[in-house]
Formats: sequence, structure tokens, C-alpha cells
Amino acid sequence: MKIDTPKDQNHGALVIEGPCGNGLGERIASNLDYELCIARHNVLPDGESEVGIDANVNGKNVIIVQSTFPNQDKCLIELMILADEARINGASKITAVIPYLAYAREDQKYKVKSNAVSIDAILHMLGAAGITAIVTAAPHKIKPLSSFAGDVSIADAIVPLIERVKEDIEDPFVLAPDKGASEIAKHAAQILNCDYAVIGKQRDKITGEVSILNKPDVDIKRKNVVIVDDMIATGSTTATAAEFARAQGAKSVVVAAVHLLLVKDARERLKNAGISEIYGTNTIRCDTSKIADISEFLSAACVKKNVVALR
Ligand code: R5P
Repeated sequence: MKIDTPKDQNHGALVIEGPCGNGLGERIASNLDYELCIARHNVLPDGESEVGIDANVNGKNVIIVQSTFPNQDKCLIELMILADEARINGASKITAVIPYLAYAREDQKYKVKSNAVSIDAILHMLGAAGITAIVTAAPHKIKPLSSFAGDVSIADAIVPLIERVKEDIEDPFVLAPDKGASEIAKHAAQILNCDYAVIGKQRDKITGEVSILNKPDVDIKRKNVVIVDDMIATGSTTATAAEFARAQGAKSVVVAAVHLLLVKDARERLKNAGISEIYGTNTIRCDTSKIADISEFLSAACVKKNVVALR
């Protein structure tokens, strides 16, 4: 789908797809009618990445598309190397489209640490590499993004994700597995035209074990429950919510999360908890079949259209 861009923005705009771009760079370039360059990429014998831009960036509005999973640290380094090259060679503006932003959950000062916060450090380093704007989707929280010196835009990933769910699920009920997912649940319930509830979750800081602090009082018998979240990592949060939904007599339980990291035995865990389907998006590479394409929304966010309000 083509997105209208001001004429002067098309001239000299270049999209660079990084090695972890998951095909999104190509789609964004096509949607915006911008020139595309696939970044050169080799892994050296010692494991270091060699990335480069085989295009003229001088005076151009450069958009680098690079997600940051799997192998978060490598993806971030590659992004910074590409941005630095664009900066040195005279790009007029450097936007990083980071569909999944790693370290976004590392947004607190822990006792064992000093005052440093990991997501702040990452955002400072991205700025130092020359990145002047960031476009991302479903960040864990919005507030920590203010550590970035430049402009931040958040693409609406919930609409394409839940529209995909809507194609399959009748008589839904939306369940947020924790307070942090309340806004996503509210948005999803509007799209699905149904009710929603929020579970009060707690996670043990040492073991990572998830348990329910507050059970919502809901009648979900004969409902098809859709658990919604920004991401699934180990699957503990989703599995705990699914067990709750099952215990309340839900007819079926599926999960829809923007970023499907699905680490370790997450798939098995979700299956054992009674999840019959996993819906996600293409912010990262994932071999689940129910994937919604969010490239149109990332493209729109690159030109400041359809962005989620920053509160
Ligand atoms: C937490 O607040 C996030 O929104 C997710 O619920 C959480 O990070 C998912 O992690 P896991 O799948 O390991 O429970």
C-alpha cells in the first residue's frame, strides 16, 4: 500500500535494510516510494559483524530498518555501525526503524546496580551513533523513551495484530495478563467490539516466577478468550493468564502479542497451558503462521502519520 509523502521528502530519501530488518525495509521503501539499499553484511571468522552501505547517503534522509532480536547485542551494534557510516558520509537525517526495541524492559534501577538504567544507556548510544529519530512499535513502556535526545514515534501495531485475530475469532473476550497490558487490552476490545478484564500479576524478581495477585471477577464461560500483550518471552505471563481463563471455563484461549520472542520452551509452555493459537507480528522473525504485517504502520510512522500518542 502506497502512503502519500510530501514531494520534497521523496527526493533524497533512502531506506537501508539491516541484516535483522526481516524484510520490513523493503516493504517500507515500497510503501513510501523511497530508494532501497540492502546493507552489506558478513560475519567475520571471529564472530564480529561487518556491515556497510553500498549507496550514496550524502545529503539524504536515511532510514535504517533493523530489529533487535534474536541476538539483541549484535543487532544493536550493527545498527550503530550503519548509523555511524551514514553520519560520517553526510546523511542529513538518520531515522532508525527498530520494530522491536531490545532492552526496553530494562527500565528500572535495581539495588545491585548503580543509578544506571540499561534502556537509557542504549538510547544514549544510538544517539551518539548519529541517529536523530527512532520509530518503534509496542515498546514495553513509553516514558523511558524520553531518554533519547531525538524524536521518537510509535507505530500502532495493535490494529494490524487484532484485525488479524478478528478474522478468526468469534464471541471474543479480551484478557490483559497484567496491568501493563491494560491499554493494549482496551484498544483490542474496541477493535473486537467486546469486553475486557485485567489480571493483577506479580513476578518474583529472583526466580522470574509469575503468579496472580488479583483475579478479575469475570464470566467468560463460553467465551473465546484473547490474551493480549506487548510481547511473549518465556511465556510465563501468558501461561498464567491462560490457566486462569481455563479455570473460569473459557471455551478457548488464544494469545496475541506484538513481539513473539518465544524463548526457551515458551511454545510448549503455552500449549500446555491450553493456548490453541499464537498471533503475532513481523517485528521480529518468527515461524508462527498467524503473523500480521505491520510494515504499513511503520511506514506511516516514518512520516509521522498514524502514530500512538506519547504520554
Ligand atoms: C511484562 O510486563 C511484559 O509486558 C510481558 O508480559 C512480559 O515481558 C512477558 O515475558 P514472559 O513471556 O517471560 O512472561
